[in-house]
Amino acid sequence: MNEQSYGRIKVVPSSGALGASVEGVNLAAGVDDATFEEIHRAWLDHHVLFFRDQRISPAQMTAFAEQFGELDTYPFIEPLPGHPHVIPIIKEEDTKFNFGGGWHSDMSYQEKPCKATLLYAIQIPPRGGDTLFANMTAAYDALSSGMKQILDGLKAVFTASKVHGASGVYRKADHPMKMQQDDSKGEARFLHPVVRTHPETGRKALYLDLPHVERFEGMRVHESQPLMNFLYQHATAPPFTMRFQWTVGSLAIWDNRAVQHYALNDYAGFRREMNRITVQGDVPY
Ligand code: SIN
Repeated sequence: MNEQSYGRIKVVPSSGALGASVEGVNLAAGVDDATFEEIHRAWLDHHVLFFRDQRISPAQMTAFAEQFGELDTYPFIEPLPGHPHVIPIIKEEDTKFNFGGGWHSDMSYQEKPCKATLLYAIQIPPRGGDTLFANMTAAYDALSSGMKQILDGLKAVFTASKVHGASGVYRKADHPMKMQQDDSKGEARFLHPVVRTHPETGRKALYLDLPHVERFEGMRVHESQPLMNFLYQHATAPPFTMRFQWTVGSLAIWDNRAVQHYALNDYAGFRREMNRITVQGDVPY
């Protein structure tokens, strides 16, 4: 995890906890295999990478995302016309609700949650609208051996119900995105381990996000709440986090198997527009 190990790109860590900026790459020109190998290795090392000052079309963003794997289709927001894997994430000057405004791992409510998310900044407010990231591997490592034993083998019920279900917050929220309501997907439930093993690095990470988790397997909601709250507060404590300030043309790609993120909603009166693509992952184990 040092700069010398990269020959084609420069990787500059963004914080002590996670994240790195990648320099020397023009995504619009395409990324050759050798450069991609280094980007992929840096991504596994740092969990979230940032590329500044890029000017990429939805097609160019799609081509870069495809180098990470098969693309996911987001079930709840209409994609850009002609780009079935690119969804717009927009907050207008006069809307209050923001997309992703709570700590979470993207699409953890699916049987196979997405592994990667790419987010590209098209319009950014003059201040605010940053995204926070938290390192779930570091959060797991910092737990006591007693707590690790309690979590070993524990599963949680994941669902999109609280956000995209029949009475989820997105039904009532004021936002400009065109929603695709699909109650079979919004109300589906899947069991995932609360501690997952990263399929590429073998490292363990906490896997539990409050917007998408209902309860622990075999427990009632109110019985699950105290431990869920502890884990949420522990995992998002400042030593495990970083904050990214967007500029137009920034692209971030994060590893949902190892991080949670939080889109800040602190820019009332200004517009923010992003394009997002997710890459398919595996069943967590
Ligand atoms: C998301 O949760 O994927 C959106 C994050 C952001 O808009 O900063």
